[in-house]
Amino acid sequence: MPQNKLVATTAATAISVAALLPAHAQNVEPIETRQDLMEENGDSAKAGGAILKGEAPFETAKATAIFSEMHDVAMKFGDYFPEDSKTGNDTEAAPAIWEKPDEFQAALVKFQEDTKAAMDAAPQDIEAFKQTFGMVTQNCKGCHEDFRIDKDK
Ligand code: HEC
Repeated sequence: MPQNKLVATTAATAISVAALLPAHAQNVEPIETRQDLMEENGDSAKAGGAILKGEAPFETAKATAIFSEMHDVAMKFGDYFPEDSKTGNDTEAAPAIWEKPDEFQAALVKFQEDTKAAMDAAPQDIEAFKQTFGMVTQNCKGCHEDFRIDKDK
């Protein structure tokens, strides 16, 4: 058999093996990654809440770091929703993510823009921080209402 024919046959075999794998195979890795990213969001939100409650001192650098961490999450989060990650690992991702991808994308972009604006605003005092933090955390609530099934509730 000529060399190139052999290569072609091998490739064809690899493809047919892949096709035999069950279509509903669970892809747990992206679920874990997106949950970890959201945990980071939760930690950032807690740090912000502690400042607002007077449990931690306000500093512009700290405020900017909180928004910057959230922005980081916002930029990465959307990459972890492949078709085969709809179930598994106790995911709270709602089917709406895959049923209304444009709306999910819009919510994601808004979160990216709002966290960026908050970073750039670099609040100088707690009053300014309160406003920017409130603007950013509207995104958490909004997206969770539409795209997350909170199993703790
Ligand atoms: C664009 C949509 C979106 C935005 C914005 C968003 N979240 Fe989430 N969040 C989700 C989804 C979807 C899940 C469920 C992920 C899963 O279980 O696969 C989730 C899950 C979580 C979880 C649970 C993580 C775990 O361990 O399972 C926490 C905590 C959380 N979000 C906090 C936040 C906070 C705080 C903010 C705002 C700063 C925020 N989220 C903004 C979509 C969003």
